[in-house]
Parts: sequence; C-alpha cells; structure tokens
Amino acid sequence: MDIRTVGIVGAGQMGNGIAHVFALAGFEVLMNDISEDALNNAVALVDRNLERQVSRGKVTPEDKAAAMARIRTTTKLHELGPSDLIIEAATERETVKQAIFEDLLPHIQPHTILTSNTSSISITRLASRTDRPEKFMGFHFMNPVPVMQLVELIRGIATDEPTYKALHAVVEKLGKTAASAEDFPAFIVNRILMPMINEAVYTLYEGVGSVKSIDESMKLGANHPMGPLELADFIGLDTCLAIMNVLHDGLADTKYRPCPLLTKYVEAGWLGRKTQRGFYDYR
Ligand code: CAA
Repeated sequence: MDIRTVGIVGAGQMGNGIAHVFALAGFEVLMNDISEDALNNAVALVDRNLERQVSRGKVTPEDKAAAMARIRTTTKLHELGPSDLIIEAATERETVKQAIFEDLLPHIQPHTILTSNTSSISITRLASRTDRPEKFMGFHFMNPVPVMQLVELIRGIATDEPTYKALHAVVEKLGKTAASAEDFPAFIVNRILMPMINEAVYTLYEGVGSVKSIDESMKLGANHPMGPLELADFIGLDTCLAIMNVLHDGLADTKYRPCPLLTKYVEAGWLGRKTQRGFYDYR
C-alpha cells in the first residue's frame, strides 16, 4: 500500500526526530501531544536540527522549508484518524501506550497501519488489544533519529506480510536500513546495549572505575562514540531502567537485574540530560 500521511503520537525526544525524518522524506506529518508547549518545542527543535543539516550542506534550504511545511501539530489525538500510518512514540509505559491505541481505534481508517516505537514492550501484547493485530508492528527508531541509520522492524505474532513489506518500503524511503527482529523482550539493539550500560553502572557502583574512567575506557578502548554512562544520560536513566526491568521480568534471568545505583538515580529524579542531572551534571 502507498503510505503518504503519518500520524505521530508524542512530541518528545523520539517523536520530534521521527517527524523530522518523515517530513524530509516527503511524507505529510501530523504530530500529536497532550501539551501545546511540547508540540511547539518539538517543531522548534526540528527546525534547529534541520538548520544544522543545512549548515553542513546535507540538506538544501529549499528541502528544509518543504519539510517544515509538511509538519502540522494537534493536541487532539482523534485528528490522527485519517493517517495511513500511525507511530506511537509516547512514554515507555505499557498502560499509557494501550490507552493511546484504545482512544485511536474508533477514528482510524480500515487500511491504517498501527506501530509503536517502543524500545522493549511486547508488540504481540500491544497488538492484541487493538482491532488489527495483523496490521500492527514494532517500529523502533534510534536516538538521535536524524543521525542513526538503523530502524528495527518487529513483527508481532499476528503481523501479516503486506504490513511488514509496507514498513520496509517506508524505511527505504527514509534512506535508513531496516533490521528485522523477533518479538522478544527488548528486541535486538536494547537486548545487547542495555546490559552493557547496566554493567557500566555496576562497574561504577562497585568502585571499579570513576564515571570518567569508565566512559573514557569504552570510548578509547572500544571505539564507542559515547561512553556507556554518557549514553545512559543521553537515552534517559528512566528509560534504561524500564528496559532492564522488561528484560529481567520477561527473560527471568538474574543477569538482567537492574543495578541498584541505576534505580537510586531514577528515584532521585536524576534522569540524565533531560533533567540536567544524571551520571554527569549538566546544570
Ligand atoms: N539532528 C540532526 N543532526 C544531528 C543531530 C540531530 N538531533 N545530532 C547530531 N547531529 C549530527 C551533527 O550535525 C553532525 O553532523 P556531521 O557529521 O555532518 O558533522 C553529526 O550528527 C555528529 O554530531 P556532533 O558533531 O554534534 O557530535 P558527535 O560527533 O559527538 O556525535 C552522536 C553525536 C551522533 C550523538 C554520537 O555521539 C553517537 O553516535 N552517539 C551514540 C548514539 C547512540 O548510540 N544512539 C543509540 C541509542 S539507543 C537507542 O536509541 C535505542 C533505545 O531504544 C534506547
């Protein structure tokens, strides 16, 4: 099927990056959030990030203007109803995601494909609560979305082949690369990345190294673009903890036990860059 219009639920870190890449690739984008301020901030951020690409010669000023003109916003979820494709990119809480799909269902078209940008929650379970598990998929972008090449495509147990093919074609149109993952806790990227980040927090907790030495070791010793603690701050410590809990509960293996220090930081509200404090102080 031909996907032209895309509804994005959530104007946070992931939602605005997703709006950016879809608008730049020629899709009409309608972005929804409960907060008008969040929507205004997201549009301003897309504008800034596109400008950064213009200044580096990666996007022409004309393409930037055309992309910005393709992004509309709304605080009314039901206005996403006519979209060909809906991408839920709200907070990483299953009850919140389920409520969004429930509210959307009476308004969407028979052909609408529903997707979630969840980084770890079961696609099969989310899909089973909708009227179209065969047209439901995990559509997982990486942060920062305009820079990262990969998109994980996760089939639920009932996802049909035309839906998979349609999303695969969308990823190609975005100029990105799709990796197909089965629906098991945290899929591929986070199944591997999060235990590494959690282990870095244990390394700090046990006093094996300081924040600086842990990050420098992995940057200079393993050629990672960011150290694991810096990356945890970038992703959000609440998101890291939520993913570790999904791995721990879903795979029932103590090797996925979240580090108590990670839990403590989240309890303190030290969530990383977004709260100006995590393993680093951004104030
Ligand atoms: N929008 C557009 N362009 C952006 C951008 C954004 N939001 N952020 C960075 N860029 C561009 C810059 O303009 C720059 O472009 P050029 O190559 O043309 O110069 C390029 O990206 C590199 O940026 P910087 O020079 O500012 O900084 P850097 O070299 O330190 O790179 C980084 C920044 C790309 C974020 C790099 O540090 C990196 O790759 N970090 C690791 C990111 C990562 O692992 N992401 C995955 C997280 S896991 C995930 O997302 C899954 C999940 O579910 C939790």
